[in-house]
This record gives sequence, C-alpha cells and structure tokens, in this order.
Amino acid sequence: MTIWQGRLSGELHALADEYNRSLPVDRRLIKEDLEGSIAHVEMLAKQDIIDRDDGALLVAELSRMLAEVSAGELEIDERAEDIHSFLEQELTRRLGEVGKKVHTGRSRNDQTALALKLWLKRQIEVTVSLLEGVVLSLIDRAERAADLIIPGYTHLQAAQPVSVGHYLLSYAWMFIRDRERFLDLKVRVDRMPLGAAALAGTSFPLDRHAVRERLGFSELSLNSMDAVGDRDHVIEYQAAAAISMMHVSRLAEDLIIYTSTGYRFISFSDAFSTGSSIMPQKKNPDLAELMRGKTARVYGNLMQALTLMKALPMTYNKDMQEDKASLFDSVDTLQSTLALLTPMLESLTFHEEQMRSACRDGFLNATDCADYLVRKGLSFREAYKVTGELVQKASDASVTLESLDLFTFKHAHPLFDSDIYDAIDLDRCLLARETEGGPGKHAFSLQVEAARAALLK
Ligand code: ARG
Repeated sequence: MTIWQGRLSGELHALADEYNRSLPVDRRLIKEDLEGSIAHVEMLAKQDIIDRDDGALLVAELSRMLAEVSAGELEIDERAEDIHSFLEQELTRRLGEVGKKVHTGRSRNDQTALALKLWLKRQIEVTVSLLEGVVLSLIDRAERAADLIIPGYTHLQAAQPVSVGHYLLSYAWMFIRDRERFLDLKVRVDRMPLGAAALAGTSFPLDRHAVRERLGFSELSLNSMDAVGDRDHVIEYQAAAAISMMHVSRLAEDLIIYTSTGYRFISFSDAFSTGSSIMPQKKNPDLAELMRGKTARVYGNLMQALTLMKALPMTYNKDMQEDKASLFDSVDTLQSTLALLTPMLESLTFHEEQMRSACRDGFLNATDCADYLVRKGLSFREAYKVTGELVQKASDASVTLESLDLFTFKHAHPLFDSDIYDAIDLDRCLLARETEGGPGKHAFSLQVEAARAALLK
C-alpha cells in the first residue's frame, strides 16, 4: 500500500514498483527528513493548524525515531517507495490516525527539496573542512621545503627553477579557490523551500519563517514553483566538485610524473604505494592514478545533472528523483579523495639532488644569464640571442652554463665579467625573483601568510 492510494486503487505492477522506488538511494536523507518533519509539525501546532496535543504526540514520536536512527535501531521497510513515504507510514504504524496528520500543508515535492537542501548544506561544510585540511598540509609542506630547488615546467619542458615550497603553494591556491566556491554556493542552497507544497503553496496559515529558523536556513525560497522545480544547488555542487577533482587530478598527474623512473624527484611512502604481482622492483603510484581516474566519474555526474534538468517543464517532474544517486557519488568521491590526499601529501619525500641536477642539466638559469646582460645595458632581445648561442655551445659540449670559462663568456659578449657566475647560480636565481607572487624568499613568506589568511575568510 502506497501513501498515494486514493484515486488509484490497483497495485503497481511489480516491475513498475521496483522501477519507481528510490528508497535504496534516498534513505541517506533519513535524519534530515525527520528533522524537517519535526519543524513542520511544531509549526502546524503553534499555528493551530493541527490540534496541539496531536502536535506534541507527533513531535515526540518523530524525535524518538530520530534517536533510533542515530542509535542504528530504526528498521527501514525495504518495500517502501522512498524514505519520505516510509517515515510517514512508520509514524502512522506507531501512532495510528494521528500519524496521518504529519503531511498537512505539505507535499513530497517540497519535503524532498527540503531534506536534500538540509543534507547538502551539511555536506558542503564537510567538503570545506576537508579542503582546508589539504590546503593546510600543502602550506605546511611548502614551508618546510622553502629552500628546495625544483625545475618549473612549461610544455613539460624544464623552464626555470622554483622552490618546492612555491610549487606546492600553486596547488594550495587552487584548493583555496575551491573552498571559496563551495562557501559561495552554500549561500544559494541556504533558502528554505518548505511551504511550497506541491507547487502552489497552501491556504493553511503556515509560518514558514518559524520552520526556516528552526532548521537554520538564512532565507526562504520566494516562489513556490521555483522552490520545488529547482535543482541548481545540485548542479552547482557537481560543478564545484568537478573543478576541485580537476585540481586533484593535475596534482596526481604531477606526482605520477615526478615519482617516475625518468624523474625520481619524489617518492611516496610505502603506505601510499602498491607493488606489482610479477615485477618485484615495482613501486606504483596507484592511489594518485585512482584520484586521476575518479575525476572522470565526477565530470560524468555533472553532465548527468545538467542533462537531467535541461528540458524539464515547470515544476516537479519525476525525472528529478534521478538527481540524488549522482550527487551522492560526487560527494563521496570528492570527500574520500580529499581525505586521502592530506596524509598522502604529508608522506612525500623530496629528493634534493635529483631535482637540483635536473635544474642544472636543463639550463634553467639561461633567462638569468640574459637578464645579467640587460642589467649591464644590453637590450633584452640582444641578450636573449647571445645567451642562446652560449646555451648551444654548452649543450654541444655536454656541460652546464656555469661551467663555461670566463673567456667563452667574454668571447660571446664583452659585457660579461666574473660576476656572471654569481648571477647564474641556481639558488641565487631563485631567491632573486622577489616579484609579488614570486618564489623569492621574502615574496614566498608573504605568500604563505596570505594563504593562511585566505582560509579565515
Ligand atoms: N522520491 C521522490 C523524489 O526523490 C519524491 C517526490 C515524489 N513526488 C511526486 N510528486 N511524485 O523526487
């Protein structure tokens, strides 16, 4: 027996019943749905829409059910259509006729919207604090690696030296923006839909503000059709999750490259590596690869949510029941990924000598050599050309720029003098880049401060 057996009398076909049922998915909303019902019933009684004694009975039983859920004691009837109808049926089983009053002035349409928004607001908070964990561990690692030199790349070709600290903070900023995105979308989730009923509100004198306040929402949805027809918040979470997973995936890709045989800049601790079933020498970055791989699912979920909503006529359509499985999957995937990322970052070991020799062999001080000539009065384009020829010479002889003798430098251009060696010293090159936002020592410490401060906003 379903809650909507009125006009319809025959039983649903067994396959139709199975197809229609969303309980296996929306049972995750059980607490939020009970909390929503408690707030609704309290308000109904206060407004004298239902008898006050009935209201007290309903609130007491709903609260008992909530406590049972927390204790893992409430048994869910798996044959129920969804979590909302199960809870009404269970309440009626326990209280008899009074239980049937819970749905006064309410529809499953606004009830579903409410439970999902309550749940999503909480998950946004969890997501935000996991992002903060990742950012803090990146900042922490960055500070400890402020002087370690590593090649910076463009086109995956070694370009200029940076510090590991500066490199790690580049990701910290990406996750800081992700955090901002989630906090920003939370403002829009924070509009309470209950009172919209099916789509057109109700003539009962509901006090929507009382329910809003009781449930901790900042504002009300101000159009009943929008309130039940809108799933922007689901799509916004999916979009922010997709962007955040894209950042994780890029970081994972870097780590996969930097731990590979050709690079060996970094290694994972054994707790975050796997072996091969046949090759005894292997230490594989499976966890980083899975992070990159799971990003695809979250992208897919975003596309599903957008496509689900794109041609729905106003207002609620049953299609919208399909909003939750993919949302839950994205929430779970993003949260478990961020939770793993934090200890994984903490377990990384950086290999100083490997990173430094990659900087040396890749002529990463060539720009500094050109800048030296500019400081002596040459135009940049001319200095660029002279340095290019020197790099070619060093490369042909398989030596670094700094091991060319002064005669070779002077021969390339008379402005060169013995202070060129200081100017192209890798550590000095790095520390000299004091542009705001650059890797220089002072600029870096300001950056660390700014990153910490960004988390307090
Ligand atoms: N389980 C449904 C959902 O998640 C509840 C809403 C049903 N409403 C309706 N008018 N059929 O969308």
